[in-house]
Amino acid sequence: MTAEPMSVLPAATRVPSGLDDVAERLMAQMPQTVAWLEDLVRIPSISVQPEYADDCRRSAERTAQRLRDAGLEDVELLELDGTHPYVTGSWLRAGDDAPTVLLYAHHDVQPVGTPERWSSSPFEPTEREGRLYGRGAADDKAGIMAHVAAIRAWLDTRGTLPVNVKVVIEGEEEIGSPNLERFLDTYGARLRADVIVLTDLTNWKVGWPGLTYALRGMADVVVTVRAMQQPVHSGMWGGVVPDALTATVRLLASLHDDAGAIAVDGFEDDVRALADDERARLEALEGDGEALADDFRDEARLVAGAEFVGDDRRTILERLWMRPTITPTGMDVPAVAAASNTLLAQVRTKLSCRLAPGQDPDRALDALRRHLETNVPWGLEVQVDVGERNRAWVTEPGGGAWDAAVAAMTAAYGREPAAMGCGGSIPFVEPFSDAFGGAPCLLVGVEDPGSNAHGEDESLHLEDFAKACLTEAFLLAELGRDAG
Ligand code: BES
Ligand code: MN
Ligand code: MN
Repeated sequence: MTAEPMSVLPAATRVPSGLDDVAERLMAQMPQTVAWLEDLVRIPSISVQPEYADDCRRSAERTAQRLRDAGLEDVELLELDGTHPYVTGSWLRAGDDAPTVLLYAHHDVQPVGTPERWSSSPFEPTEREGRLYGRGAADDKAGIMAHVAAIRAWLDTRGTLPVNVKVVIEGEEEIGSPNLERFLDTYGARLRADVIVLTDLTNWKVGWPGLTYALRGMADVVVTVRAMQQPVHSGMWGGVVPDALTATVRLLASLHDDAGAIAVDGFEDDVRALADDERARLEALEGDGEALADDFRDEARLVAGAEFVGDDRRTILERLWMRPTITPTGMDVPAVAAASNTLLAQVRTKLSCRLAPGQDPDRALDALRRHLETNVPWGLEVQVDVGERNRAWVTEPGGGAWDAAVAAMTAAYGREPAAMGCGGSIPFVEPFSDAFGGAPCLLVGVEDPGSNAHGEDESLHLEDFAKACLTEAFLLAELGRDAG
């Protein structure tokens, strides 16, 4: 399939009255927007790997260039010792009565995983069947370009924006924003806004937008189980002396019941219960569950015959969005090829927890620590080290800003957005919203469930991307109207 010119509006789009000029300009600029996105994708801004630090800087500089191209002023890199650069810019000429909107995205990306499993090279953006493939094409360089496209279309047609705009593009979201607190202390006042708009989420389906009102938080824990000073001969001692790996496996197994639901006393105590109307909404989205379950199996690339885990009295969406998880994601043990006939003395395991709305990270992690300390078998030593953590975020799906986003998405996609939760995390949201006096946050979709962000063959659906850009152009008008 050849690339089609995108100067005509998507068939489903219903441009709000008075915005035809902006919408048409945005569509006419779409090929350039996608070309700029491709340029960004070519820069491997992998924040977790130190050898890509220069590329993270290059991607910040290229992002800054695009913010300038869009017509933003005061564009610069914001840095602190030891951080990958953030990028900022603003346009503050809408007047004191107009609200100020902070637009967020991030320019860093995940590592590529297994290069051989990509159909085309991860940093050589490639279009196939209406999708743009490449690392960061969706998460979250598309989010950056949605801001650029909307601002540029407005400033090019009207020379003005309906609201005051500040932009912040983060450079270390994918490593858990470890410097966020310092960043907030240093630059928070300068970024202050009445509303925050984030284009770093997923839509419900292709052509069916999503507006997200809940994010899970995250916490990292390292568990070290120690059986002896050093490995000893497994023939000499095996059968009597306990080894650290068997003990660790038993300890990990105790974290869940047979269905895979969490079995840690107290861990879930603070999880916020679903309100009746919310439960009804989630059930309506889930439908009879079967079709959604089949889609999930496909999208998660699950092996045939695998079952879902967790408390099956809760719907899939509730488990995914509103309940916590505890998952081992790494272990320090000898590799199979290096295994010798010894009883292992010590094993370290990384546990990654997703925290649900309502959970206090410290209280939940205390409960986990108690569980690990009391359930380690055979009197072995266990040490629990808690690392980075950020709390979940949830808001009421309603109110002036929310309604503005619903109107903008409905116009752009020709279909009302689904009110969604998100199983993933964006550390920026909770502390910045909090610092701005509980400012509403609009978490707008750019990805779709087939985007495979973080995985191989990450991709962006290009027609929906145009709709995401239109959404933002319309949203700025809606937010301006609100205040006016
Ligand atoms: N864009 C994602 C968040 C997300 C996840 C949105 C799933 C929609 C669906 C973001 O870039 C991300 O990956 N966040 C990390 C944060 C972590 C490092 C603290 C995550 O969720 O793992
Ligand atoms: Mn992201
Ligand atoms: Mn991500």
